[in-house]
Amino acid sequence: MSAMSDSRITSVSTEARVFPPPAAFAASARIGSREAYDAVYARSIQEPEAFWAEQAQSFHWFTPHERVLEWQAPHAKWFVGGTTNLAYNCLDRHLAGPRADATAIVFEGEPGDVVRYTYRELHAEVCRLANALTQLGVVAGDRVGIYMGMVPEAAMAMLACARLGAVHTVIFGGFAAEAIRDRLNDAGAKVVLTQDAAWRRGGQVPLKAQVDRALADVPSVEHVVVLQRMAEAPALGERDYDWRTLVAAQSAEHEAPALDAEHPLFILYTSGTTGKPKGVLHSTGGYMVGTALTTRHVFELRDDDVYWCTADVGWITGHSYVVYGPLCNGATVMMYEGAPNHPAPDRFWELIAKHKISILYTAPTAIRAFIKWGDEHPQRHDLSSLRLLGTVGEPINPEAWMWYREVIGGERCPIVDTWWQTETGGIMMTPLPGSIPAKPGSCCLPFFGVSPKILRDNGEEAEPNEGGLLVIDKPWPSMLRTIWGDDERFRATYFSRFEGKYFTGDGARRDADGYFWVMGRVDDVVNVAGHRLGTAEVESVLVAHEAVAEAAVVGRPDELKGQALVGFVTLKGGVTATEELRAALIDKVSADIGKFARPDAVIWADALPKTRSGKIMRRLLARLAAGETELGDVTTLEDAAVLASLRDREGEDE
Ligand code: WT7
Repeated sequence: MSAMSDSRITSVSTEARVFPPPAAFAASARIGSREAYDAVYARSIQEPEAFWAEQAQSFHWFTPHERVLEWQAPHAKWFVGGTTNLAYNCLDRHLAGPRADATAIVFEGEPGDVVRYTYRELHAEVCRLANALTQLGVVAGDRVGIYMGMVPEAAMAMLACARLGAVHTVIFGGFAAEAIRDRLNDAGAKVVLTQDAAWRRGGQVPLKAQVDRALADVPSVEHVVVLQRMAEAPALGERDYDWRTLVAAQSAEHEAPALDAEHPLFILYTSGTTGKPKGVLHSTGGYMVGTALTTRHVFELRDDDVYWCTADVGWITGHSYVVYGPLCNGATVMMYEGAPNHPAPDRFWELIAKHKISILYTAPTAIRAFIKWGDEHPQRHDLSSLRLLGTVGEPINPEAWMWYREVIGGERCPIVDTWWQTETGGIMMTPLPGSIPAKPGSCCLPFFGVSPKILRDNGEEAEPNEGGLLVIDKPWPSMLRTIWGDDERFRATYFSRFEGKYFTGDGARRDADGYFWVMGRVDDVVNVAGHRLGTAEVESVLVAHEAVAEAAVVGRPDELKGQALVGFVTLKGGVTATEELRAALIDKVSADIGKFARPDAVIWADALPKTRSGKIMRRLLARLAAGETELGDVTTLEDAAVLASLRDREGEDE
């Protein structure tokens, strides 16, 4: 694609085109005009407690809240005194109504096997699994690890934990043993739910084997429940249970307990600026109200929709917009197990035509891959069932946005570019499809109750179109409550840069129409193919190698992945830099963290450029890494003089 260039990450033309909501959307939407949006938004900001109290009414509460919000920055409590159960709201609540026998989940495996669950069936499965977990000794407040692929049982596992009040921590199936070990240990998990293997590009990705490796060093785990996905029954050890045998023996009845609105719901680990991933903690009531309300409005969900969010349940998007938000709304959710290009690059389009998918929510990185694979693949399929498209995870370049609109959406589907984070729990900025004109590359306007600001370093508000730091200056229901086991880090990371305001870590600007344009991270977090990685995490793997003295990892722009990782490595005295060593370092990252965290390049350096206080000058290295094409093949560059000369330039810039 010649239209793509490195500018796509930051390309934010101020004269962007504007795409008004399609008339059909505006006519039937819950919020059908800009005026309607403005009125609801204004009320949500001026009278947040009244607004959220009203929103909370569409859920089942065992006891109503006494106060809507207690806010003592950085700690928020929402729906104080209320009790509810998120799994009850996702399942039981629908059994009395018209959605009871509607499809809750339609699953297609990579080999083409299809399984459907109605709400009634899903409810029964979740109850059985909740009973099974109870039999294994799991009680409210216990932590349960989930390391699975994209199978319906992964959603059941989450819902069963939520039902019991057990705190799940889902670990993305792409993480390797050491990353699993660290997360399970940090959470103190008692039970792990996993599967033998998952299908990916025609091959079997072993999951149970990674768990076994990880568990050699996780004393808290007592039991492992293993779902058999493959033909051959997996070998089970002493603490292992076969999922289906265990579950089949259970009653399909289970009474959902009333849990406090602030009962911890899940821990999801995400990358930060230090090597240790942060256990982002979400709680029950606020997360439920926030994710369900955003799902309803952002996707303008209807009962006849078949909704497909392509994210993995191992990431926040999978939590909020595959499982909890859509199921709370009684939606029909598509889950697909495998790769988008297996057996051919048209697999997604085949799935859309076959299952008559009407809402597609995916990542810009996937869209850029589809562009590269060629228009003939989507064009071969009937995509007329689609009525709305969404993107999430990274800035989308206007070229990719236009392609999505024309080639996938047939110019009739609105596109919602949704900005949010693991920490925010739910969508924070987005156009609403029936009321807000979209600008390609902009996540447009804040959702109800969200108060974003662009600040200068000194805390003053930036002028229109002036780049600055993106903060949220008021609490919102689905915000993270703390970092598991490290409340001080929670405060320091998010609420210390600007006292009492949530700092997102993103740079952004707001244009003259009030539209937000997110440029990307301003911290040492890199977004690789929509996956958030801490450079320090990868560095700590590299320096753990016996040959390495020092390492610095930075992101560089990448046409397909948005950003790619580049590692600068200095070796210990007497060690020779060889191709084998380079490969060994990259393999170590795969083995310890996971394949998706592999650096694209490892550059040998005699020394790393440092400030006088000894801090590695990462921004300088990032510039060096970004200039790779001009510099020729820097992967073989061994010359610290290049770094030294850049160091002088860095001095001039600042
Ligand atoms: C970071 C959060 C949101 C769930 C998936 C990622 C970037 C996310 C957008 C968007 C520009 C975006 C930000 C953010 N990001 N969505 N629509 N436009 N940037 O969650 O792993 O917590 O990453 O992803 O940089 O801070 P995450």
